Amino acid sequence: MTDLAQGRTGQQQERPRSADQELRARAKAVIPGGMYGHQNAGPLPPEYPQFMRSGRGARIWDVDGNEYVDLMNSYGPVVLGHRHPAVEAAVAEQAAQADCQNGPGPVMVELAELLVATVDHADWAMLAKNGTDATTACCTIARAQTGRGTILAAKGAYHGSAPWCTPRPAGVTPADRANLAHYTFNDLASVREAAARAGDDLAAILVSPFRHDAGFDQELVDPAFARGLRELCDAAGAALILDDVRCGFRLALGSSWEPVGVRPDLSAWSKAIANGHALAAVLGSDAFRGGAQEVFITGSFWFAATAMAASIATIGALRDEDAVAAMARTGDELRAGILAQAGNYGFAVNYTGPPQMPYLTFTGDRGHALASEFAGHAIRHGAYLHPRHNWFVSAAMTGDDLALALGATDAAFAALRRRLPGT
Ligand SMILES: Cc1ncc(COP(=O)(O)O)c(C=O)c1O
Repeated sequence: MTDLAQGRTGQQQERPRSADQELRARAKAVIPGGMYGHQNAGPLPPEYPQFMRSGRGARIWDVDGNEYVDLMNSYGPVVLGHRHPAVEAAVAEQAAQADCQNGPGPVMVELAELLVATVDHADWAMLAKNGTDATTACCTIARAQTGRGTILAAKGAYHGSAPWCTPRPAGVTPADRANLAHYTFNDLASVREAAARAGDDLAAILVSPFRHDAGFDQELVDPAFARGLRELCDAAGAALILDDVRCGFRLALGSSWEPVGVRPDLSAWSKAIANGHALAAVLGSDAFRGGAQEVFITGSFWFAATAMAASIATIGALRDEDAVAAMARTGDELRAGILAQAGNYGFAVNYTGPPQMPYLTFTGDRGHALASEFAGHAIRHGAYLHPRHNWFVSAAMTGDDLALALGATDAAFAALRRRLPGT
């Protein structure tokens, strides 16, 4: 860490002038709100930079040259580590020929074949750019196939930023949500009730592999719930859609519900499938191939070749490096370390989710005040984690990276304990 740590006063405007602050000031004039979306550092503690310069492996640098161990990995896309050599070589090789042309390159077919061979429930693949493209396309395909309208989704689940699913109401009309109804994750009775209300208009049940709503303790899926959704969809003739955008290729290679033994009809992928290059996929079973052929979905950049080359290299490296197991091992060590520290400093915490995608909250911490303070201290000591969103472990984490991350979290617990000696 450089002057960011030493110069902290607790008030953002009192910190020394920095490249980040210059950029934030300029951004205010030309970008609404100065920044928007999930990477808006505005709501984060003042120690967080808004603008980043570079990354390699599990380390990242902000525009002021401060170095961090990355426990967010671009909020999921980076799974093998930043600038993974095999992925970047594949991108460079493809870019030397062409990226965006009048038609896709051979890599589109190669990638579709690889996805179908890798993901157990997939008989076909369609490619796009963002997770929202993929979840939206899954719903459209389900409706085209079934001729019905209603989609059931879990209350509070995030499936993207389009009007039908954005968590913020601004600019959204009731008509945008007219065909959406809700159930409670892991509560089969609530799904049955919602399905009964939908009656013969039920097109699909949309579900994430586990409950990872931002700001809440995470909840792993009850396998009986997953099996129950499958049975319900089979009985109703509706599609089971798995939103694997956030978890895909971090928890398993063959879909996040492969270990659970439940095969969706359609699945949405993005984030980690091309190690940081812009790509999304809809995968589906033969039963939904007709609907997929009928719909018109496309985008100017959906068929660009470099991200597809990146994805082929990413899937190859995930396999070659046994990356899912590596992330699980590192994640287990991170969890053990953080829980031991919380115990040593006398804090009651909840550390939830799979080891590759953990989330830490402090018991009774209303408004995430303690979590924010903790995160502010952790980032000053070189660990980039998040107080209100699950973290993402990458396969690039070395023993040194882990030691640095745990050193930062230890310092953060220590600082909290110094401020709260009597609790
Ligand atoms: C579960 C889930 N679905 C869909 C999306 C939307 O993906 P994107 O932001 O790429 O549109 C996200 C993004 O965080 C997600 O976590």
